[in-house]
Amino acid sequence: MTTTIDRPGRYGPYGGSFIPETLAPAVAALDDAYRAAQGDQAFWDELNALHQSFSGRPTPLTHARRMSDQLGGAQIYLKREDLAHTGAHKINNALGQGLLARRMGKTRIIAETGAGQHGVATAAVCAMLGMQCIVYMGTEDMERQKPNVFRMRLMGAEVRGVSTGSRTLKDAVNEAMRDWVSNPESYYLLGSALGPHPYPAMVRDFQSVIGRESRAQMLETVGRLPDVVVACVGGGSNAIGMFHGFLADEQVDLRGVEAGGRSAALGEHAARFSGGRPGVFQGTRTYVLQDEDGQIALTHSISAGLDYAAVGPEHAKLHDDERAFYTSASDEQALAAFQALSQLEGILPALESAHAIAEAMRLAPTMRRDQIILVNLSGRGDKDIFTIAGVLGVDV
Ligand SMILES: Cc1ncc(COP(=O)(O)O)c(C=O)c1O
Repeated sequence: MTTTIDRPGRYGPYGGSFIPETLAPAVAALDDAYRAAQGDQAFWDELNALHQSFSGRPTPLTHARRMSDQLGGAQIYLKREDLAHTGAHKINNALGQGLLARRMGKTRIIAETGAGQHGVATAAVCAMLGMQCIVYMGTEDMERQKPNVFRMRLMGAEVRGVSTGSRTLKDAVNEAMRDWVSNPESYYLLGSALGPHPYPAMVRDFQSVIGRESRAQMLETVGRLPDVVVACVGGGSNAIGMFHGFLADEQVDLRGVEAGGRSAALGEHAARFSGGRPGVFQGTRTYVLQDEDGQIALTHSISAGLDYAAVGPEHAKLHDDERAFYTSASDEQALAAFQALSQLEGILPALESAHAIAEAMRLAPTMRRDQIILVNLSGRGDKDIFTIAGVLGVDV
């Protein structure tokens, strides 16, 4: 079964564009501009050239030999988005949208960030293109991702702390949208496959380079496709970018991993598919964590980038179609996976990506040695060392 988009911006009953009327002209202009860019080969040629010269693409594929041997089952391969410039897959989207903003004649860029990786990627692209950059970030996230806050400021971005609500990603998105409503001439560079149309489709397109490269690299280096593809799911951009490369390969099992947090109680995790139900949130219809009255629930995850109450609408369709399956890994499992990958392979994964590693570690021993699990290692863990030191009770 493959996912078909019935109408632009609709994924079965999900997606759409639920926005205040004041934003409608800005969103329509964005949709027009993206559609024009889609058909312009010069736009993609410039993006591809920058992928190479600025971001360091293609990112490599690494066989995690010691981890695979120790687990005694399937071979684990890692798609190394941690090696992309600024340390995560977020640069793929920031670069694409940055070029689109320039094409639209925009000079003031607004962004939100959770783990800070999207903020850092946006700050880097804005510096490179000579644009003003304002990043909204929850104060809770600023505290746990301090190195990224400083990195953004070093590249000339203004980081605005958001101290409303849970002081995390959803509050940062609210503030960025508020800024956009007051400044519709600005460009809102949204960081995941979320929000109103055209963002989920556009961000997916910019992240699809991950799946395209991975599929070609698997065929080139291993000679066949993986049996299982695993990616962590916050808003859903690294996962949808990876999954798109394999959607037509029906034999490839696609697995998204959400944040299982501390427990299955509402407020203690960010597992939207097991703990949420369809609703409308921040511009789109999708699975949302909410209470009985439809109030958006608080969320928790050890990883700032997965700590969000809604999931990208295309994942909702893939879930309902059973083309992709969604599980969760707890804080504790993610931490154990972080330590295992660090010590067995010499790679510090982002805490977000460690959720995908945890699922691979769970699956591998249940599979044969000649089978393959491909994990999207969405980012590097340098930003998380203070969080991990805190959990381990170590002074750094
Ligand atoms: C390294 C990394 N992986 C994954 C995510 C989750 O975002 P998404 O689901 O959009 O890929 C983030 C978000 O900040 C991140 O920094």
